[in-house]
Amino acid sequence: MSDEGDDPGSVRAGVHVGEALKARRDAAQSRLQHWRSLAEQASEAVSHADPILSSGHLTRINGLVMEAAGLKLPLGSTCKVYPNVGAPVEAEVVGFSGEKLFLMPSDDLYGLSPGAQVMAVEPAIAPPKVGQRGNKRRRAIDRAKQVPVGESMLGRVVDGVGRPLDGKGVLRPETQRSLQSRPYNPMGRAPIEHVLDVGVRAINGMLTVGRGQRMGLFAGSGVGKSMLLGMMARYTTAEVIVVGLIGERGREVKEFIDQILGEPGMKRAVVVASPADTGPLMRLQGAAYATTLAEYFRDQGKHVLLIMDSLTRYAMAQREIALAIGEPPATRGYPPSVFARMPQLVERAGNGPEGGGSITAFYTVLAEGDDQQDPIADAARAILDGHIVLTRALGDAGHYPAIDIEQSISRAMVNLIEPDHLNRIRRFKVLFSRYQRARDLIVVGAYVPGTDPVLDEAVKLYPRMEKYLQQNFGESAEFEESVTGLKALFADEAGGAAA
Ligand SMILES: Nc1ncnc2c1ncn2[C@@H]1O[C@H](COP(=O)(O)OP(=O)(O)OP(=O)(O)O)[C@@H](O)[C@H]1O
Ligand SMILES: [Mg+2]
Repeated sequence: MSDEGDDPGSVRAGVHVGEALKARRDAAQSRLQHWRSLAEQASEAVSHADPILSSGHLTRINGLVMEAAGLKLPLGSTCKVYPNVGAPVEAEVVGFSGEKLFLMPSDDLYGLSPGAQVMAVEPAIAPPKVGQRGNKRRRAIDRAKQVPVGESMLGRVVDGVGRPLDGKGVLRPETQRSLQSRPYNPMGRAPIEHVLDVGVRAINGMLTVGRGQRMGLFAGSGVGKSMLLGMMARYTTAEVIVVGLIGERGREVKEFIDQILGEPGMKRAVVVASPADTGPLMRLQGAAYATTLAEYFRDQGKHVLLIMDSLTRYAMAQREIALAIGEPPATRGYPPSVFARMPQLVERAGNGPEGGGSITAFYTVLAEGDDQQDPIADAARAILDGHIVLTRALGDAGHYPAIDIEQSISRAMVNLIEPDHLNRIRRFKVLFSRYQRARDLIVVGAYVPGTDPVLDEAVKLYPRMEKYLQQNFGESAEFEESVTGLKALFADEAGGAAA
């Protein structure tokens, strides 16, 4: 029986044809895979969109809050209210009651009339791409307002939602990020174990701050908060500085940027300014935006110094909103939500995962009338990793920075510095407070030297200790220098450092 298949030539040809067919089939398969993935992503993207953009109308404006009916929007989402003429007013959903939505505007409300149209704003989703995983929005937070972030923002001054205020032209941000971020897994954070040099001797030497630590700066008005923050921003070794100026006077914003931060500080800084004359929502967004920027740089592996002036004004903005939508006031007029929002903001700062970037943060807290028992100051002290207290008495006496070393504490310090250094700090504090307590006696000459050896040593060292704590605005003090300075203070005291 003759069999054509036995011919070796035709077998070879058959194998070739088979291989070619297989290759074509594989190519077709992979193309199909590509298109399938695109189709999947497209349907995923489409599933998030509302088939019909919902719209409603304004029914009431009561002071700060607007009420809208006719649309259902999730809490925290953004919408626009259209006046008869002029640009729409952007607003955020801050609450609801029955069918009514409570909206808080970002800008002012001029020009809105009864029945004005309210439209939902859906943050833009990145278009699907073949072969790339899409950006899925699983959580409500991912649908929050998107703000510009990126390397090119360094040296710029922007408002609470990323509009430039410095007249240096349009922003060209690398990317956008949600104003809110997901809570960080506390187990995933690197511990605070590296010193951050802040360039201020009294802090480096006596209240050492670590990368990822969050500190409070407690003071009344005009005691030197801004200047101290400015010194840190100028002289710190952090790579990026993000400054949030929240609820402060407008004049102070320019002063802080031009005179305090200056050209050297501004080069590696981004400033977010929401001064006192902006609405409360804008002030909350300003603080969230500054934190978002700091998170962006941290996620790029940078060590960031975040300066927030002030946390109290942030709390006050939240109080304005909460009271306006009818939340009952609790402690000194602050509704409970204020005390919930503060840790949410503060917890966003800190270290990233091991080996990554960090956000070291300083929040100023106004202690009105130098009253340390204010509820915001109390709450802040509990959620921060230490506090630096500035006192008016020191400022009035020309002692700058007016840091009250006895009342201030850095809770992470013990793990950061050498035992010798820690001993010297303790010694310093013992002598310093002993002198303070006996000061009146010493001044009137009622103290007889030789009665108390510790006080004798304190009297002898006091002028040098005082000098150690003082620092001019134009002078920087590196960490090493601060440590050796402290060592030198006790060097000629027999057994002084060891005691
Ligand atoms: N390191 C310093 N050296 C010299 N003077 C200083 C120093 N720090 C603060 N001052 C003085 O204190 C004044 C007030 O400082 P600053 O504006 O920083 O205070 P503030 O607490 O930010 O005030 P406000 O509550 O008004 O924001 C300055 O104008 C300056 O005269
Ligand atoms: Mg100030």
